[in-house]
Amino acid sequence: MRITVLGAAAGGGFPQWNCNCRQCAGQRAGTLRAQPRTQSSIFVQGDHGADGVLFNASPDILAQIRANPVLQPGRARRDSAIAGVVLMDGQVDHVTGLLMLRERGAPLPVWCTDAVADDLTGGFPVLRVLDHFCGVQRHRISIDGTPFEVPGVPGLRFRALPLSSKAAPYSPHRDRPAPGDNIGLLITDTASGRTVFYAPGLGEISPAVFDAMHGADAVMVDGTFFTDDEMPALGLGHKTARDIGHLPQSGPGGMVEWLDRLPPATRRLLIHINNTNPILDQDSAANALLREHGIELCEDGMLIQP
Ligand code: MLT
Ligand code: MN
Ligand code: ZN
Repeated sequence: MRITVLGAAAGGGFPQWNCNCRQCAGQRAGTLRAQPRTQSSIFVQGDHGADGVLFNASPDILAQIRANPVLQPGRARRDSAIAGVVLMDGQVDHVTGLLMLRERGAPLPVWCTDAVADDLTGGFPVLRVLDHFCGVQRHRISIDGTPFEVPGVPGLRFRALPLSSKAAPYSPHRDRPAPGDNIGLLITDTASGRTVFYAPGLGEISPAVFDAMHGADAVMVDGTFFTDDEMPALGLGHKTARDIGHLPQSGPGGMVEWLDRLPPATRRLLIHINNTNPILDQDSAANALLREHGIELCEDGMLIQP
């Protein structure tokens, strides 16, 4: 399989439009060694065929499509390599780009859980808005582990795992988590048997999630925050990483500890990295720590072939 990282940043991107923290200001000024990143999304193709699956539709999708010609094979006057969209949650930074696909000539195939479909027809009704344009062909992702395929993308199979994270801030049930608010996806290349576990928002690693990570050839997981108190420590609100459903990398029970327990050959990648996260600064101690642990940071435009 071929995975193109379209965007590797968390909500707001890096640098964030209104942020003058040390990292955003330093990136803008060119005084910090750090790559800019757009909001997280990946495009997954089998080994053969141009069409693939878009995982999440970022607010930056139009720029991401322009930057990645693989998304525009140019076979017809109106064309796209996006055979369908799979949503991991209903977060603004993961679904707003759906509205940018409204010029399609046919209903957009969208896979999501019932909890996410409720939010996207209620609290943030993008699916209903799209009905006035290209329309949506919604497919249900079941959280009982039933695998699914996306027509037009042969050779790939997907299986969802419910995650403990958070519904989107606008969700009517933000404080009453429902199973299916957030999922991780196990992606299998059916020809090679190679697998990737993708979870850009991951608040807690349950035994089932760890099993999926342990069995995968590569994991692409939540890289939002380095420390639990990263935002409050910068004077940016009072909520911790865990409060908003993101497991921080450092500290006891943090992501680095979990990744250390995976088999040595597993490729470990972080995605959905917040602009405040010191790992973005290539000269930081946090960045060095990840390198010592064999953990990679996703970058926009990166091709991953597990
Ligand atoms: C998150 O990842 O926690 C959300 O994207 C937050 C947000 O919508 O700003
Ligand atoms: Mn986010
Ligand atoms: Zn910033």
